[in-house]
Order: sequence, then structure tokens, then C-alpha cells
Amino acid sequence: MSFSTPFKTAAPLASTLTQTVPLLAQVLQNGQSLNEALAHTAASDLAQKAAVQDLAFHTLRHLALAQALLKSLVNRPLSPDVQHLLTIALALLAAEGNKESLKYPPHTLTNETVLASLNCENGPRVKGLVNGVLRTFLREKQSRLVAALRHPVARWNAPQWWIDGTKTAWPDHWQAILDANRLQPPLTLRANRRVNSRAEFMDRLIQEGHPCEALGPDEAVIVNKPRPITQLPGFTQGAFSVQDEGAQRAAKLLDVQPGMRVLDACAAPGGKTAHILELADCMLTAVDSDAARLKRVIENLQRLQLRAQTVHADAVHTRDWWDGELFDRILLDAPCTASGIVRRHPDIIWLRQAADTQRLAKIQQALLQALWPLLKPGGKLLYATCSIWPSEGSQQIDAFLQRNPNAVALNAAIQLLPLSSKLENHDGFFYASIVKS
Ligand SMILES: C[S@@+](CC[C@H](N)C(=O)[O-])C[C@H]1O[C@@H](n2cnc3c(N)ncnc32)[C@H](O)[C@@H]1O
Repeated sequence: MSFSTPFKTAAPLASTLTQTVPLLAQVLQNGQSLNEALAHTAASDLAQKAAVQDLAFHTLRHLALAQALLKSLVNRPLSPDVQHLLTIALALLAAEGNKESLKYPPHTLTNETVLASLNCENGPRVKGLVNGVLRTFLREKQSRLVAALRHPVARWNAPQWWIDGTKTAWPDHWQAILDANRLQPPLTLRANRRVNSRAEFMDRLIQEGHPCEALGPDEAVIVNKPRPITQLPGFTQGAFSVQDEGAQRAAKLLDVQPGMRVLDACAAPGGKTAHILELADCMLTAVDSDAARLKRVIENLQRLQLRAQTVHADAVHTRDWWDGELFDRILLDAPCTASGIVRRHPDIIWLRQAADTQRLAKIQQALLQALWPLLKPGGKLLYATCSIWPSEGSQQIDAFLQRNPNAVALNAAIQLLPLSSKLENHDGFFYASIVKS
């Protein structure tokens, strides 16, 4: 989640720019996720970290346009750090009227970028070039923007294969989906029913100066002015968790009753695990193959005072971890391209390769096939992905139903599209409920 910091209270801009450069390098050169890179940022305090984070998110949301502009403005090789610095500045200058851009008046931004260039390789030598590039852009902004935006990659801020895949899958919605990918998502919370109702939680938020709105019929709340969650009332007491409204649908669809045996097969960091446990007293086994992520499940459950058995294992290898007793409910929130959550993770669109979709679809198929025998007759498996690609959603489930005659789709599958409208302000998710006959 990105936190907005008013410019006047933010750390000096040149220093923020300088600290954003290595983040971009980690994502674009080393293929690291932005969250991992942020965890190691050198930012000195919360305000500076928030400013750096905002700038990195903004840049990734306008990356292709900024890169196209840079290419048109400079026709000599640049060192990676100068390239990244100019990309960050151009992403701000190009996105006129955008909340992030409004924080930085163009001439201040230009001066501070020139200052920040002194921290780059050959700083004093590139200073003039950085100044010249940005001032040329400001003089010729409209014509340069029009030219750069003619290219679909710059227009939609996505690789061509991603644009094509979105068009093919959603011919009526592809533009709205790609547009929504560049919007700042809301800070969506889930009121913990065991501690407070949604109405009680919202009253508390409002009383403490955090205007908010209910979203959907259940526990979701949008905080109008995002801020670090530890500053919101009741975090340490487990009054709420951060979770997109689309993700909050899983626990309801799973429909767990008290006393049931439940498997959450790909559980980390535990958002859905905790929600299931908030709704019903059940015996839940949470499996994940990533030890560091599983640790976050344990921490989240501790904060929320919930209990589950946590297991570090590859869920496909059931012999290694399963005690042989069948489950009433299985949630398989499978690893996927995460193509539905780009607005929250704008690095995804640049980190994924076209081949990842088929590779991940094979993993999803293996998980489905391995876990199906663990379900009781009459039990329900909920298959979920945070993806908008049919190969990870409807096609995956159609193939599964064909392979397994004792598997019956309970209702029509649900594909949530990430369109960021006022009433449907959620990420992209796919859900299919399957019962065993
Ligand atoms: C989409 S995330 C799950 C999100 C989680 N359900 C939540 O709501 O917070 C997918 C998870 O699957 C885990 N995973 C991937 N392959 C796995 C496997 N073969 N067995 C178990 N976990 C796996 C990943 O480590 C990752 O934590």
C-alpha cells in the first residue's frame, strides 16, 4: 500500500529521488519485487520511506511512457542510475494532474533532479545533461507526449503481450482494466468480527479522525485518506486487517461451519486464513511452501488471536504433511501471475514474462489434482487466483471438471475484474466452488 505524504513534510526531494533510483534498479535490472526492494531501502524515517515508496509506485505506473520520452530526448548511452533518475523525473512531469505529480512543481522537480544527479556515477559530468533533458521536455511537453503516447506500450503502460492478452480475454473491458492498473488503489480494511462489527469499527475510525466508507455487504471498509496502518485505531488489538474487498470474498464463498476440518493449501501471508477463522470456529490447517511467508501467517494469527495448525510444505506432496483425515473444506488460493492486482503491485506487469502464465497454470493443475483426494464426499473446494487470465481461471477449472467426474461446479465461477469503480473497487480475482459427489 502506498501512503501519501504532503510534500511540505516530506524529506528533501533530491534525497528522495536519490533513494528511489536503487529501488528501480532492483526491480528493472535484478527482477526483485518492489516490496522486497522497499524492505531494504536506506530511507531514514517513516516519512522519507513513504515518500520513496510513493515515488517508486508512481514511476512504475508510468514507466513505459517515461522510458519512451527518455528515448526520444537522449540519443547516447546513459549509466543505469542516470537513466533511472531521469525516468523517475519524467514519470512525474508527464503525469500532469496526477496526485503524485501535483506534489512536485515542475521547476522544483527539475532543480532537485539536477541536484540528485550529483549522486550518480560521473555526477558532475551528467548534471548539464539532466538539466537539458528535463528543460527540453518541459518546453516541448505537449508534442513529445502526443508522439510517445502513439505507442500502445507507452499508452497502456504494459508490455505488448500483456495488452494483447487483456484484449483477447476481455474484448469489452480491456481498456478499462489497463487504465485501472495505473490508479492508486484504496486502503481497504477488513473489520475483525470477533473484535468489532464493521459499524463499530467505522465509528471508531471516524471518531479518531479517519473518514471511511463501507464497501460491499460484509466486513470491508475503505479509509479515505490512506496512512500507515499502525496509526489506525485497534491494529495491535486485532480490530482489523488490510485486505482487498475482492480477496475478502473467499472466506464467504468457502462457507465454513463450526467444527469443520479446513485446509488452506497456499496460505501465506494468511489474509484468507485469518478471515476464515474470524467467521467460524474450525480446525484449520494452513500450508505454505515458503517458510518466510509462513512466518507472516503465524504473526498475523498471533496479532488477531486466532489459532491454526501451520505447516511448511509443498502442498502437492501430500504424503509429506497430510495426516490422512479428509477435509470438509479446501481453499486453494493458488500461485498465479497476479495479473489482477497490478494496481497494488505495479512492478508485476514489468516482472512477469509471457511464458509465466503457462508455467503457473501447470503448477495450479498439479495442486488441484493433488488436493482433490483430500476432500470429503459432499465437501467443497474453493479454487482462487488473483488473475484475470482465463488459463489460470475458467479454462483451468473446465479442464479439471472434465478430468474428474466426481467434481461438480456448485455455481457459475466468479471472475472479478479490477475496474476500480466506486461500487466495485476491488482487485481482479477468479473463484470457482467445486463440490465432490
Ligand atoms: C496467492 S498467494 C496466497 C495468498 C494467501 N492465501 C492470502 O490470502 O494471504 C500463493 C501462496 O502459495 C504459496 N505456494 C506456491 N506453491 C506452493 C505449493 N506447491 N505448496 C504450498 N504453497 C505454495 C506461495 O508461497 C504463496 O504464499
